[in-house]
Amino acid sequence: MSVSERTKKGMELGSWIRRMFEEGIAMKKQFGEENVYDLSLGNPVMEPPPEFKAEIKRLADHPFKGMHGYMVNAGYPETRAAVAKQLTKETGINLSENDIIMSVGAAGAMNVAFKTILDPGDEVIVFVPWFVDYFNYIENHDGVVRPVDCDENFLPRWDILEKTLNKRTRAVLINSPNNPTGVVYSPEMLTKLCDLLRKKEKEYSTQIFLVSDEPYKKIIYDGLKYPSPLQFHKHSIIGTSHSKDLSIPGERIGYLALHPDCEDHDAMMKGFVFCTRVLGFINAPAFMQNVVTKIQDVTIPVEDYQRKRDFMYNNLKRMGYTVNKPQGAFYIFPKCPIADDIAFVHELQKDHHVLTVPGVAFGIRGYFRLVYCVTDELLEKSMPGLEKIARKYGLLK
Ligand SMILES: Cc1ncc(COP(=O)(O)O)c(C=O)c1O
Repeated sequence: MSVSERTKKGMELGSWIRRMFEEGIAMKKQFGEENVYDLSLGNPVMEPPPEFKAEIKRLADHPFKGMHGYMVNAGYPETRAAVAKQLTKETGINLSENDIIMSVGAAGAMNVAFKTILDPGDEVIVFVPWFVDYFNYIENHDGVVRPVDCDENFLPRWDILEKTLNKRTRAVLINSPNNPTGVVYSPEMLTKLCDLLRKKEKEYSTQIFLVSDEPYKKIIYDGLKYPSPLQFHKHSIIGTSHSKDLSIPGERIGYLALHPDCEDHDAMMKGFVFCTRVLGFINAPAFMQNVVTKIQDVTIPVEDYQRKRDFMYNNLKRMGYTVNKPQGAFYIFPKCPIADDIAFVHELQKDHHVLTVPGVAFGIRGYFRLVYCVTDELLEKSMPGLEKIARKYGLLK
């Protein structure tokens, strides 16, 4: 067998979204692109903002010498300073370029963070439902995933969390705004979480990092303000990207930020730099670092996603689905009308050509995830199928 057992296990775990994707391609061939309604993949439909394109043009027209060469592994100092300035404005925490490392997307940032902090057997707590790649981000670096269940509002079960924290806990990984639920953690929730982490740090004489995976931090609705983990815990590590806020996921540009008051700050930053190199990234894409330097305060029009969120949420509610209103990101996570989410998703696919992802892909049964970062037309066309199946299972009379 050429593929290792470890990789085979990882491929099996992550196979749901890929399977839906492949089945979707096959269905589109069979029935025609316009007759398959793919709400399974978080690939944003929006084009990047005009400022992004203007920066590409400016740099192409006025290149500087060595623009396509290597730079320091951490990334261009000017880019890191621009990121730090924006992050300081957003969080009120005073950051400098010495707290920032540019990364290959949020996924690259997470891998660098976990490679830097984990020894074999160290534990990382993740909340259920989780983003499917979290297992990879942690197990790639010999960490052990410790899932903690949430309540029906997708907030952690505090009793379980308290019991799961132990002296091997190296980090708690959070994702807000959340994929798949759309939940945004409130200042109260973060205060409670970080108070608990500090209590446990004291009890075990350890550092427990709050690792925040936040590629959706700017996609947030109803005037909510994003509370940054940096404001709540000095042992916090931020990993994010411009994949979603500039709608450029294929360009692979993001960053890691470390709280300036973190213990062993300089050693940690050196660790991030080292791990960026040894993981084979070497540095974040040079051209994209330059492109995003001057547009740190630019974001795609979030109100367009909010309108799509409202359309999706209002229709699902009208059809009788049990569903929480997403506060951010571009996913919605209703309850299936039957317990078997896999059977439900298959039926929706086979009979109504609507592609979604079963809850099992996120570690929880009985739910399904839909994306709304798609065209209005696609959203509208997928409603009749969702409605018919809601009627069949008695949600809508
Ligand atoms: C929760 C979450 N984390 C990380 C990522 C990876 O983001 P990036 O494309 O910036 O690597 C995604 C992408 O969809 C995501 O949904």
